[in-house]
Amino acid sequence: NNPPWPAYRGYHEYSFAHATMQSRLPTILGKAIEDATRTLNNQSSEEEVIDLVQCIDRMGELMTDLSGNAKLRPIVDDNEADVALWNKEIAKYFQGKDFMNAPWLFAEAYKYRRLHECFSVSKFWRNYDVFYRQKNDTFSRSSDAVFELSMRFAETFKIPEELSQAEKLEAERLMFLELTQVCLWGNSTDLSLLINMTEDQIKSLQSTGGDHLAATEKNILGNDLTRLWETVQDLREKTGGRIDFVLDNAGFELYCDCVYADFLLQSGLATQIRFHGKRFPWFVSDVTKKDWEWLLNSLAYGQLFPNATDVELESLRRLGMRWKQYEKEGKWVYEQHPFWCTGYTFWDLHSEAPDLFLHLSRSDLVIFKGDLNHRKLTYDCAAPASTPFEVAIGPMASAAGAPKVASLRTIKSDVVVGLGPDGDRIAEKLDQTEVGWKISGKYAVVLLSEGRPG
Ligand code: F6P
Ligand code: MG
Repeated sequence: NNPPWPAYRGYHEYSFAHATMQSRLPTILGKAIEDATRTLNNQSSEEEVIDLVQCIDRMGELMTDLSGNAKLRPIVDDNEADVALWNKEIAKYFQGKDFMNAPWLFAEAYKYRRLHECFSVSKFWRNYDVFYRQKNDTFSRSSDAVFELSMRFAETFKIPEELSQAEKLEAERLMFLELTQVCLWGNSTDLSLLINMTEDQIKSLQSTGGDHLAATEKNILGNDLTRLWETVQDLREKTGGRIDFVLDNAGFELYCDCVYADFLLQSGLATQIRFHGKRFPWFVSDVTKKDWEWLLNSLAYGQLFPNATDVELESLRRLGMRWKQYEKEGKWVYEQHPFWCTGYTFWDLHSEAPDLFLHLSRSDLVIFKGDLNHRKLTYDCAAPASTPFEVAIGPMASAAGAPKVASLRTIKSDVVVGLGPDGDRIAEKLDQTEVGWKISGKYAVVLLSEGRPG
């Protein structure tokens, strides 16, 4: 049940695996320790202070293990719903492996699970999120793009009545294509890569205007946008179009996902959207339940943008209130299955989380956001760029009951598939002409698998 290509590993020096395991992860962990220390310095209760100091000590041990390339030990039983899955996978496949020679995807996920363990075994700090400040601050610094979207989409989506049927459909198609791209490129600003970004750099990554989108479509190297539109358009014929988002990052990306999901509902292309987030802090910027609530409530009631005009603030409030209403009515549902925070790739989703697979198989379309989800879909292995997406995602396309799956991902790591028959040549050319093209987030893929009815 594995693909025929080797998985990337930390000791592969040619791969982003190496830089990540060697220096990115220790840097991220160092910043996490700084955050917890900052919190510690603001505590007064003796019990809580002592408890947090112990969390910080455990983070120190993790740092020693990570930088000393220790062997991967089992996760301590902290009563989390995923602990059995973790230890089963370690026992079965990774006995004696260390951070560098275990598959990169697994070792990186393991590091975030160990970071969670530093807190999950504590008394007062079980739910502490070392990345929370950073996630919120970055959203607050994204005002230009946030208002650009809210000023356009606070008003509900209306197509002028006087248009012919064909014109109406065309208007809707164009809006769909634009918002799919907004949702796609929202992924380029994840925090794990952009640790030291300036305000201007954030702005240029988040620019959402129409001209900009036309130019960026050229950078979608595997582009199933048209097929995606056809798929979604078919849903309207049904009475119960359900679209699932397997979320990636909090803040601006989640905001873009919500704008897109709002349009899908308003246009009648979908009647229900289910959002899947993480149960605990994950890969720095991924969405947790707290991040989800923070976004909706900050938009509806918050004061994140002191320099905004009243009209701008009102547009945010309207979006926030509308989205909260969707949640109340059950049109939007937020979920957090334990499987999303394990080290398994999605090649194992049907066997390791059959309940989740069954649940997803009832969806009309499952949209996976971002780079990590793409790595998990494709087993994070060295498949040639011409590999068809359906082949690269294995059982998520071929198992009985596999739903239609779309991956909206800006390319931030080695695995690249779905570029078409000429894909290997395209990838080779970029290798020669543009160093770092696989990690810059400048390029993207929008790939679709038709699934297999159960
Ligand atoms: O460490 C690399 C990585 O796992 C890549 O997948 C990407 O660079 C980043 O971390 C996460 O990106 P995303 O938030 O898009 O999944
Ligand atoms: Mg992420």
